[in-house]
Amino acid sequence: MTKRGRVFAGIRCTGRQHLGNYLGAIQNFVALQEEYDCVYSAVDIHTITTPWEPGELRENVWETVLDLLAAGIEPERTILYVQSHVPEVLELAMLLGMITPLGWLTRVTTFKDKVRLHPDHVNYGLVGYPVLMTADIILYKATRVPVGEDQQPHLELAREIARRFNRLFGETFPEPHAKLTEAPVVLGLDGVNKMSKSLDNHIELVATPEETVERVMTAVTDPQRTHRHIPGRPEVCNVYSLHHQFNPDQVEVVYEECTTAKRGCVECKQQLADGINRVLAPFRERRQELAGRPNYVEEVLADGAARARVIAGETMAEVRDKMGLPAAYGH
Ligand code: AMP
Ligand code: TRP
Repeated sequence: MTKRGRVFAGIRCTGRQHLGNYLGAIQNFVALQEEYDCVYSAVDIHTITTPWEPGELRENVWETVLDLLAAGIEPERTILYVQSHVPEVLELAMLLGMITPLGWLTRVTTFKDKVRLHPDHVNYGLVGYPVLMTADIILYKATRVPVGEDQQPHLELAREIARRFNRLFGETFPEPHAKLTEAPVVLGLDGVNKMSKSLDNHIELVATPEETVERVMTAVTDPQRTHRHIPGRPEVCNVYSLHHQFNPDQVEVVYEECTTAKRGCVECKQQLADGINRVLAPFRERRQELAGRPNYVEEVLADGAARARVIAGETMAEVRDKMGLPAAYGH
């Protein structure tokens, strides 16, 4: 085990990442590199627990990896790989499946949500989503998992599965805990739901400055502020809360001017869009540069998978042994 402690996080490959992913998780992916040995994965197998298009999936894995690198993942010190390139995780997930009661899985709220959303796609793989996620994490014996608030139920289950393994087969896995950012739940442009691609209430990190302005202008603010001269209530306004992230030194001015109707929502949104564009400018520049270097990105992923497989191989040898699976007999 590493002296610095290990971090693991996966990110589904649903396409380009948005501000919610960035503020809720990716920011921490980057920051944790200072203190921990980090392993990050574009989890393509999790992505196909819901319906997908093969061609789109490949493209989306690539976009996800570019976003992570552009955000500041440093492959010299951090392991970055595509989940399916380390097939040991599938073996571990299957083995953990032998000690995970079905009842634990069917009561997970994300499972119930997906059943409602895709009633014709309620598969074995879908119900096993949290088992695969547990396997992702404990394959590397990671203790810290940078994720948004919505992943807490999955992590609770990961701890339960790890505990059960340890009880049955002897102390093997440390219990993983979520590492939240200061914005564990980022609301979308509708101002009420979690920002998410599927609700189309998001802003992509790679959006152009013009697209960013256009999207921010559609954001819902305080619904009671139906006129420019009516004072606003920043506590219920998502534009205000986003100012904390993108214009931290302006928050007090924004609050004062909004509550006294000195500023209107349009002006406030323009300032937010400017802040987002300023903060994301270096990301966008790096992203464009990386998109022009596919060979480099492929090398990073090949190297990441190779380094990950060394750790994964060690864990799997231990797991097989503890579970009583015979080692190769050598004849
Ligand atoms: P996903 O795209 O759903 O796989 O999310 C990737 C990571 O971003 C996970 O750690 C999520 O918890 C986090 N995340 C996604 N959307 C949000 C959001 N609106 N607010 C905070 N965190 C989020
Ligand atoms: N379930 C996570 C999400 O939807 C993605 C994920 C898969 C993950 N494996 C993981 C996150 C392991 C943290 C650790 O965002």
